[in-house]
Amino acid sequence: MSKVLVTGGAGFIGSNFVRMLVAEGKHEVVNLDCLTYAGNLENLAECEDAPNYAFRKVDITEVEAVERAFEDTKPDCVVHFAAESHVDRSVLDATEFVVTNVVGTQVLLDAARRHGAGRFVHVSTDEVYGSLGETGRFSETSPIQPNSPYSASKAASDFFARAAFHTHGLDTLITRCSNNYGPYQFPEKLIPLMILNALADEPLPVYGDGKNVRDWIHVEDHCRAVRMVMDNGVPGEVYNIGGNSERENIHVVKKILELVGKGEDLIRYVDDRPGHDRRYAIDGSKIERELGFVPSRDFEKGLAETVAWYAANLTWCEHVRSGRYRQYYDKQYGSRLGSE
Ligand code: NAD
Ligand code: TYD
Repeated sequence: MSKVLVTGGAGFIGSNFVRMLVAEGKHEVVNLDCLTYAGNLENLAECEDAPNYAFRKVDITEVEAVERAFEDTKPDCVVHFAAESHVDRSVLDATEFVVTNVVGTQVLLDAARRHGAGRFVHVSTDEVYGSLGETGRFSETSPIQPNSPYSASKAASDFFARAAFHTHGLDTLITRCSNNYGPYQFPEKLIPLMILNALADEPLPVYGDGKNVRDWIHVEDHCRAVRMVMDNGVPGEVYNIGGNSERENIHVVKKILELVGKGEDLIRYVDDRPGHDRRYAIDGSKIERELGFVPSRDFEKGLAETVAWYAANLTWCEHVRSGRYRQYYDKQYGSRLGSE
């Protein structure tokens, strides 16, 4: 059985990926995660007793701990999800983004090279391409023009992955996916934040005019695409992954209110995010042509299932929304939403 080392496996996408691989039973999966505010082992409760799953609490920026993990594990492949992932947090303070996303990625690339890990799949984002106007879509050859500290740190990490391939011959692949939604997403991101606020009759803070566009993909489609890249991707290549589901934020927010059965009076237009990218859209023709990936989930149906998941998992939500997240929420929205 080949061994896959997954970083950030306790986060949103990483935990969906780990659950998928563990359930398939074809790989031994080692999850390396330091459990930041966004990492939650409850996401992996169903994997805990699986014979092909192991967790190691490791900070990817700590060279010695990473070294020991590679030494003990001897992975055949690394799939790297671990990151600081939220744009608004990067606006408040970018330091951690540079440390985790840039330094952490380089530490992993070095360890993978030293220990002869066969492949290194670097999970990146379409946000490295910057922002689109009314038309056009990002292809793999679009210029890299990140606008937020988050996307700048991801772009930098992409370049280090690229350099590891060209300079050292490490078999790296880069995926750039659009906005994910689905179960286990931390409720600082648009969809789960709006669902939980709507369920609790709290105001729904829409940035700017609400007409920014994101291309939504279900997390299980994203994980399937990463799996295809891991299995059959060409070394050194970049693969864009999209959901073919461009929607204005306000459309998504109104749909959530409808699904939760609440009125639009909960919507609050608040100050825009600084540097807010207007539109993202993905040209996914390369991964479709070369690896056969097409997103399979209908957005409206997937959104309804996601709303149902959050409503049925309020204990999970309470756990992740307590403590440090509450402090962040007050800092991010306190003055924008006033005293409501
Ligand atoms: P997330 O914030 O939910 O999870 C991140 C995980 O990384 C957490 O488990 C956290 O504990 C772990 N982590 C953070 N710093 C670490 C460190 N120093 N050492 C070890 N572990 C650490 O993120 P997500 O939304 O699941 O995103 C996963 C990856 O996918 C990221 O690289 C992100 O850039 C990329 N991505 C996300 C989206 C999206 O819509 N969420 C879209 C495209 C790409
Ligand atoms: P987000 O989920 O943070 O993802 P990203 O910024 O990486 O695309 O935000 C998605 C969109 O929703 C983005 O245009 C910003 C907007 N947004 C709001 O309008 N209000 C909010 O409270 C949040 C978190 C996001």
